[in-house]
Amino acid sequence: MANIVLVGAQWGDEGKGKVIDYLTDKVDVVVRSQGGNNAGHTVVIGDKKYILRLIPSGILHKGKLCVIGNGVVIDPVSLWEEISELAQQGVKINSKNLLVSDCAHLVFPYHKIIDEQREALMGNRKIGTTKRGIGPAYGDKIARVGLRMGDLLQPELFAAKLKNRIKDVNASLRELDRKPLSYKKTLEQYLEVGQKIRPLITNTVLAIHKAMMAKKEILFEGAQGTFLDVDHGTYPYVTSSNTTAGGACTGSGVPPNRIDRVVGAVKAYTTRVGEGPLPTEDTGISELLHSMGREFGAVTGRPRRCGWFDTVATRYAQIVNGIDDLAVTNLDGLDSVARLKVCVAYRLDGKKIDAPPTDVGQLARCSPLYIELPGWQQPTDGVRSYEELPPNAREYLQRICDLTGAKLSLVGVGQSRAQTILV
Ligand code: GDP
Ligand code: IMO
Ligand code: MG
Repeated sequence: MANIVLVGAQWGDEGKGKVIDYLTDKVDVVVRSQGGNNAGHTVVIGDKKYILRLIPSGILHKGKLCVIGNGVVIDPVSLWEEISELAQQGVKINSKNLLVSDCAHLVFPYHKIIDEQREALMGNRKIGTTKRGIGPAYGDKIARVGLRMGDLLQPELFAAKLKNRIKDVNASLRELDRKPLSYKKTLEQYLEVGQKIRPLITNTVLAIHKAMMAKKEILFEGAQGTFLDVDHGTYPYVTSSNTTAGGACTGSGVPPNRIDRVVGAVKAYTTRVGEGPLPTEDTGISELLHSMGREFGAVTGRPRRCGWFDTVATRYAQIVNGIDDLAVTNLDGLDSVARLKVCVAYRLDGKKIDAPPTDVGQLARCSPLYIELPGWQQPTDGVRSYEELPPNAREYLQRICDLTGAKLSLVGVGQSRAQTILV
């Protein structure tokens, strides 16, 4: 293969975990470079289901190195929980298969409190965050007051930095009439967990560089999706990191000229969890998918909002990320639909437009213009080759890829690893 970046080309939950698990077979190293435990990447292998939050989905393959890069924000308590859960499921983790960047910023309990508080204060303008403290942790990083994984390796320095930080945070909490945080409790908890993950913490830039010099191939596992990108998404209804392809470079220290291809993951329809505009949202398709027990958030269990495939959005995602190939997941979700709508343009204030407006208010006023395609109305979950897919399914896939401007490379027809068709 080559060095490949996989990004979500919609609003997250495109099935990236499954695609990464599938592609990991062909690479040596899998790198997460942004986001935190707001991500929930599902991988189903046989009758076993794994939900990865911070650890790259490549971890389920033996003999591969996984890396949590500098651009990720890490709640180390949650990381340790994930490591322990995986151990219970038979996946052993040590410094041979997982490295964690010493420059990755730490998420603290106060970040979660601030996240919840902000959401509560915003009332009906809330973002609908995962309440994992992601925004406030990135806020501290950008404001240059954050603490990093590497600090955990120097307990005295860590203690001094944490003391200062908690003093400032407690001053703000008092203003909000919230209980102050215990410096001692947080210190003990973080140093204890820091001790456990100490062997994994290192300069991952050098580790990835070494792997590249040895001609190892790297897969970058994006979290969230293009329209949740803090710069290119539906701001302010976004997450706090660069979820688009460029984030793979800044969040890992791998230069752009080492990236060979970009793969975009999309669902065969559209989903979004949390607030913010979703132009093709449709109650009919939401009800259909929810009645099948599908489209509930992997992290929060919230029902996802569902809609038709939106090529205005995915075309923009193609431009921003430079998507070469598309991995289309969840085709089987549309098996029973008689007429499929595909959004090809928006109407905004009486004018037809073919790119999403960057202003969220304008995007909310957009109404989708659709073409209709006939459904295939037969199960696809047992299909294992592209040629075996019903002709209408192939036509649908080709149309959405052509309209997006990328090549179809992979199709998902079920949750499990085996239900993947390489095109
Ligand atoms: P991610 O965050 O992009 O990794 O996606 P999630 O794991 O949050 O959500 C995707 C959901 O779709 C999960 O429940 C996956 O198991 C499921 N999934 C992925 N691909 C397919 C597919 O092709 N068919 C079906 N039925 N489910 C899929
Ligand atoms: P994966 O990697 C879908 C959404 C939240 C909310 C917004 C901000 O599984 O695709 P945050 O907690 O990040 O501050 O929330 O972003 N969000 C996701 N939606 N998939 C995700 O990750 C998400 N991570 C965050 O619902 O709307
Ligand atoms: Mg998810």
